[in-house]
Amino acid sequence: MINVLFVCLGNICRSPMADAVFQAQVKNAGLDDKIKVDSAGTGGWHIGETAHPGTRSTLKKHDIPYDGRARQFKPDDLITFDYVLGMDASNFDHIQRNFDKDAHNAEINLFLHYANEAGTVTETEVPDPYYTGGFEHVFSLVERGGEALLNHIRKQHKL
Ligand code: 4NP
Repeated sequence: MINVLFVCLGNICRSPMADAVFQAQVKNAGLDDKIKVDSAGTGGWHIGETAHPGTRSTLKKHDIPYDGRARQFKPDDLITFDYVLGMDASNFDHIQRNFDKDAHNAEINLFLHYANEAGTVTETEVPDPYYTGGFEHVFSLVERGGEALLNHIRKQHKL
């Protein structure tokens, strides 16, 4: 099994969006028996909560199911997961600070790195919609980011 983890700050807006959209993309590619997807937040304020109403309504509009609950990122995730992807630079820094060089298996990157390389997205970070909104923009970035990530994983694992 290939395990993919998306990490943001609260795990209620951006990483659940990426989690849901990427799960749908994996399923559409017929790879859901090979790729498992999860998300987490670096902060613990929303542990156990459902996704933000903005994320839920945007996903619903696009007919993408999601029933995940927020959980906090832990250093062990770098052992359990093969890909750990920060939604913005501060999430990425947090992941790297918890990075134990002797005990990790994960490829750690900014989530949009793959779409940047593919030339489908110019932004390098997914902006936080928690205070200012912009959930549709997050969805659009996450859709293109997920496509490029899936292409990368398929290439690496010859899927
Ligand atoms: P997220 O957005 O990191 O995309 O889930 C946020 C959610 C909650 C908070 C900040 C960002 N917060 O400060 O509670």
